[in-house]
Amino acid sequence: MGEKWVLMKTAQTPTNIAVIKYWGKRDETLILPVNDSISVTLDPAHLCTTTTVAVSPAFQQDRMWLNGKEMSLSGGRYQNCLREIRKRAREVEDKEKGIKIEKKDWEKLHLHIASYNNFPTAAGLASSAAGFACLVFALAKLMNVEEDESQLSAIARQGSGSACRSLFGGFVKWIMGKEEDGSDSLAVQLVDEKHWDDLFIIIAVVSSRQKETSSTSGMRESVETSLLLQHRAKEVVPKRTLKMEEAIKNRDFASFAKITCADSNQFHAVCLDTSPPIFYMNDTSHRIISHVEKWNRSEESPQVAYTFDAGPNAVLIAQNRKAAAQLLQRLLFSFPPKSDTDLDSYIIGDKTILKDAGLEGMKDVEALSPHPENGSAQKYPGDVNYFICTRPGKGPVVLSNENLALLDPETGLPK
Ligand code: DP6
Repeated sequence: MGEKWVLMKTAQTPTNIAVIKYWGKRDETLILPVNDSISVTLDPAHLCTTTTVAVSPAFQQDRMWLNGKEMSLSGGRYQNCLREIRKRAREVEDKEKGIKIEKKDWEKLHLHIASYNNFPTAAGLASSAAGFACLVFALAKLMNVEEDESQLSAIARQGSGSACRSLFGGFVKWIMGKEEDGSDSLAVQLVDEKHWDDLFIIIAVVSSRQKETSSTSGMRESVETSLLLQHRAKEVVPKRTLKMEEAIKNRDFASFAKITCADSNQFHAVCLDTSPPIFYMNDTSHRIISHVEKWNRSEESPQVAYTFDAGPNAVLIAQNRKAAAQLLQRLLFSFPPKSDTDLDSYIIGDKTILKDAGLEGMKDVEALSPHPENGSAQKYPGDVNYFICTRPGKGPVVLSNENLALLDPETGLPK
């Protein structure tokens, strides 16, 4: 084995949003949940993590860079993921480069990892889910690991619970499992992203001044103090999960929307039932809920579902493009950009929806009219930072184009 070579792999992994929430662990180290959860994977074109992993005999230690900045890998969660994936590493041979790594070599060889999110980390959009999923997926490819996506999901889970659901596209279920060692706590794909491709998703990134309680400590406090959490995990989620699976299978939007909204609201009720109470949503979040509820009630059947994670951002899932276009008009009326922000930077992601909403080329949103059922023509400029338009998306992929790698193929250091 020469001392000069660097072997790399680059992968891209989506983020996901839960429609049945994971909130509460029964094992903190293995990250085992108190209930099943279900998510929809978001299109990686708009929200994803790209990770390059490299191995070389020249590397002195494991190192990682996130968005260009070196960060520590000493945390237990990183160490658990690295240990578990190394255990499964197999022989790798690159005849072209004259490289051969034996199974036993992986224990001694060090890794370089560079990761990049195509969305602002500070926006509070589940960057750890895509991050850990991508780390595990990329390492599995580099190390020629045999395990399938579900088995890999059980490793990503040990980085961050919600990460296990980012190993698949479409709709994904994290089965809580029963085993003490966590071996049956893993994600499975319910349907792929093509099954229900009418859905359109608009994320309102809501301005917030306060630093939120992290999911990890928030759910620990809920497990310790909330009786509602116990009831939810035992009585509510098992039935809801079955109904949600049916709704997804039958593309039954009315049922899907009802359960999604109810589950988001119950998760936030559990937060309120925690001592001391945890508030993740703010006034803007509540206003968005009222808007959607009023609009849904004024229609024959619901047009949009809302769901909120551990922060004030709203994830709005519309039945189809038409509903999404109407939703965007309504949201822009009530939550226009500040006067110094143009529409082009206020609405990002899949901008094709602007045309459907008759907003293409529009300079500002002054011309939009209020919606009678809303009962309020009040405007809140600046309360939403921006909107991300997206759709359900595919699972992790390997990027074979070396130009997309985040590490230099010669030095193994960030480009
Ligand atoms: C509200 O997966 O971030 O987004 O397992 O401690 O890393 P850890 O927590 P995390 O929690 C996600 C909570 C949630 C709901 C969900 O994604 O299911």
